[in-house]
Amino acid sequence: MAHRWVGLALVAMVTVAHAACEPRDLGCAIFDGEHLMSAHLRDDDRTLPAWTTRCVNCHVGTSKAAAFAPPLTRESLLGETRRRGGPMSHYDPIAFCRAIKDGVDPADIVLRRAMPRYKIADAQCAALWQFVMSR
Ligand code: HEC
Repeated sequence: MAHRWVGLALVAMVTVAHAACEPRDLGCAIFDGEHLMSAHLRDDDRTLPAWTTRCVNCHVGTSKAAAFAPPLTRESLLGETRRRGGPMSHYDPIAFCRAIKDGVDPADIVLRRAMPRYKIADAQCAALWQFVMSR
């Protein structure tokens, strides 16, 4: 009997781990890389291989623990805080899109080179913002 429950729990965990995006959630599809976007690194015009540009590759978790790239969540983006040693700032939809396209944060500080710069349409950016605000 007990092993049946273990089995069910495992199935539930796997289902959560592989939760796919809702069909109409463009922001989720961009974040997870189901919808690939063209990007390049700062000072380098060459297009990055598509599979390297998925947000989820680098923005893995939602915790504040030291990570390669900061979490992208409602709390982390809307929170008024000093980013990269600059003055207090927070993101809004416009600052968010600017970070993704031009690689600068709300206080005009240039992001590390590891964060790609994307060719992204305003509507895609808005969908992405909506998605990260739900996390
Ligand atoms: C190859 C790794 C990588 C990928 C892919 C990537 N990022 Fe980043 N991103 C970073 C790193 C590293 C930083 C931190 C830069 C810094 O602190 O200077 C960052 C920072 C950011 C920031 C600023 C966060 C803050 O707290 O100031 C935003 C917004 C962001 N990324 C959005 C995105 C989105 C949206 C995508 C997908 C479209 C994406 N990133 C894909 C590596 C990546």
